[in-house]
Amino acid sequence: MLLSDAFTSSARRYDLLTRLNPGYQRELRRAARQLAAMLDATSRPVIWDLGCGTGLSTKALLKTMPHAKVIGVDASAGMLAAARAKDWPAGTEFVLDRVENLVTNPAPELTQTPDGVFAAYLLRNLPAEDRTEVLAKIREFMGPDSPLVLHDYSVADSNVARAKWTLVCFLIVIPLAALTGAKTSLFTYLWRSVMDNDSTANVLKRLTQAGFRDAAVTTAKGWHRKVLYTYTARNQGARE
Ligand SMILES: C[S@@+](CC[C@H](N)C(=O)[O-])C[C@H]1O[C@@H](n2cnc3c(N)ncnc32)[C@H](O)[C@@H]1O
Repeated sequence: MLLSDAFTSSARRYDLLTRLNPGYQRELRRAARQLAAMLDATSRPVIWDLGCGTGLSTKALLKTMPHAKVIGVDASAGMLAAARAKDWPAGTEFVLDRVENLVTNPAPELTQTPDGVFAAYLLRNLPAEDRTEVLAKIREFMGPDSPLVLHDYSVADSNVARAKWTLVCFLIVIPLAALTGAKTSLFTYLWRSVMDNDSTANVLKRLTQAGFRDAAVTTAKGWHRKVLYTYTARNQGARE
């Protein structure tokens, strides 16, 4: 089964399961605030929310930047259908596409250069060998100096984090997914993909190799400490 199909089949339960994850929304909002702090003053910034899923990250962006125009992009039709079914400010758009296709075949909604790019829980879902290239492709779309924020789990740096992540997945996430009737395979995949994910140093290296500058990382709070990270970086070039 394709990963996008697996997300589609769990789309209805996705929001419920994230509500059972203490701090999920709070940490998305914290990452969104980091992006907001890096933006130039502009009346209506255009923000791309790559891998927007059911729109939880879109909501965090709009809560932090109520005047932004957010364009969500996701490869899963089911996740996007759940996002589109919610209420959004006028101008919010959702595009069905894979981020890998952005350069070769961009959707018409994505022709305007974004003021900032946000991607929560996306990069880990791409094959490791493609991640740097996809980051470089995203950068090609961005204006000089404009900010990128990535937000994702990583446990490669710490055995304590690996143990914590394994306990949370097998004692809480996977049993709760089963209780709600969701297919547990996506959540077993979630565990494995985080265990195998890049270290924070590797993500920072990828950002630099992809042509971003000032790459930096911070960890989250609560149980997410040293398990969930937010990366910030800027495109090369100077503002005019
Ligand atoms: C864990 S969800 C995160 C959703 C949302 N950003 C959030 O914070 O709740 C990851 C999303 O990335 C999407 N995704 C995975 N690979 C993708 C790709 N190559 N291109 C676009 N979207 C992708 C999946 O369909 C899924 O909806």
